[in-house]
Amino acid sequence: EKGGWPSFMAKEISEGPEAIRNTLRARIEDGVIALGENETLTDEQLKNLDRIIIVACGTASYSAMAGEYAIEEWARVPVEVELAHEFRYSNPVLTENTLVISISQSGETMDTKMAVQYAAEHGAHTLAICNTQGSTIPRESDAVLYIHAGPEVAVASTKAFLAQVVGQLLFGLHLARVRGTMTDDEIRTVTADLEALPEQLAFTLENADDVRELAHWMSDTRSVLFLGRNVGYPVALEGALKLKEISYIHAEGFAGGELKHGPIALIEPGQVVFVVVPSPRTQPTMHSKLISNIQEIRARGARVIAVAEEGDAAVLPYADIVLRVGTTHPMLSAVLSVVPLHLFALELASAKGLDVDQPRNLAKSVTVE
Ligand code: M6R
Repeated sequence: EKGGWPSFMAKEISEGPEAIRNTLRARIEDGVIALGENETLTDEQLKNLDRIIIVACGTASYSAMAGEYAIEEWARVPVEVELAHEFRYSNPVLTENTLVISISQSGETMDTKMAVQYAAEHGAHTLAICNTQGSTIPRESDAVLYIHAGPEVAVASTKAFLAQVVGQLLFGLHLARVRGTMTDDEIRTVTADLEALPEQLAFTLENADDVRELAHWMSDTRSVLFLGRNVGYPVALEGALKLKEISYIHAEGFAGGELKHGPIALIEPGQVVFVVVPSPRTQPTMHSKLISNIQEIRARGARVIAVAEEGDAAVLPYADIVLRVGTTHPMLSAVLSVVPLHLFALELASAKGLDVDQPRNLAKSVTVE
């Protein structure tokens, strides 16, 4: 069932473009969002929302962090992300105008399920963004937006992350439309970029030899750091998690702005740091701030691998290696920039001869607390 691929993880990474195509299918009409009735709350309920909390665990929580930026930016509702297990024991303030969105590939993660139950019992609305049809979390939620990424077998979640981000973007645009915070034309510019994602991803996947070489060259590495800002920050966290999970290498993700508050002390000559670089076109301030971060770590001997938009020439003098991704709307960029990191984790674990589908100590879905 691996269809000729050496592992389910390799197969599922290759299915990223198709996963996104399926998340988008029938949900964009004439450039604007067309979510079915059961995929969201009533317009009245959405208009009255004054707060959104997204609950999830692991990779799903990083997709939630990427979604948070977009939903808040577009719909102008305060959005926060809570790890599901922290949420339910933190005595959260919930009202009938709170929406609790859960993100779960399996729909069976115990902590996320309990968080949803807690939210419902305390009067909040609940929306599940889920991959597995008929699973428990969607059944217990008021509404469900299935991401249709297809079955994910490998313990390391890859294509589901992409589709989870896209699912949240669709919801964010829908909410913005209902609340009148974006015009249809503004929405159309984003949906055009959404529809371009599968092809851009396919291009990245077809031209990934440099990532493979890099991973082989680095197979003895003992520690890798990841830096990002804005939506690049959850991408950094996700890159680090994937490496930990399947390569058993020490890896940590940081927000670029945090460097001086501690992590820079870790930098010693030869330390490899992946940097997720924002677009110089659409996020010039953040781009230059991240370049400053790169200068700070390089001055201390770090080796920098930049994940940067094609056409970003300004990054070249600052990176030892540049992995290119397509150009897109800044709120969509996590979907493109995470893929080289997924591939890197896969290739590095494979180079070490590890079983990437069944990493030690981990289960695909965590159905106990
Ligand atoms: O099925 P879920 O999306 O609820 O799972 C959440 C996490 O357990 C999951 O993403 C986990 O972190 C993965 N092993 C990450 O690759």
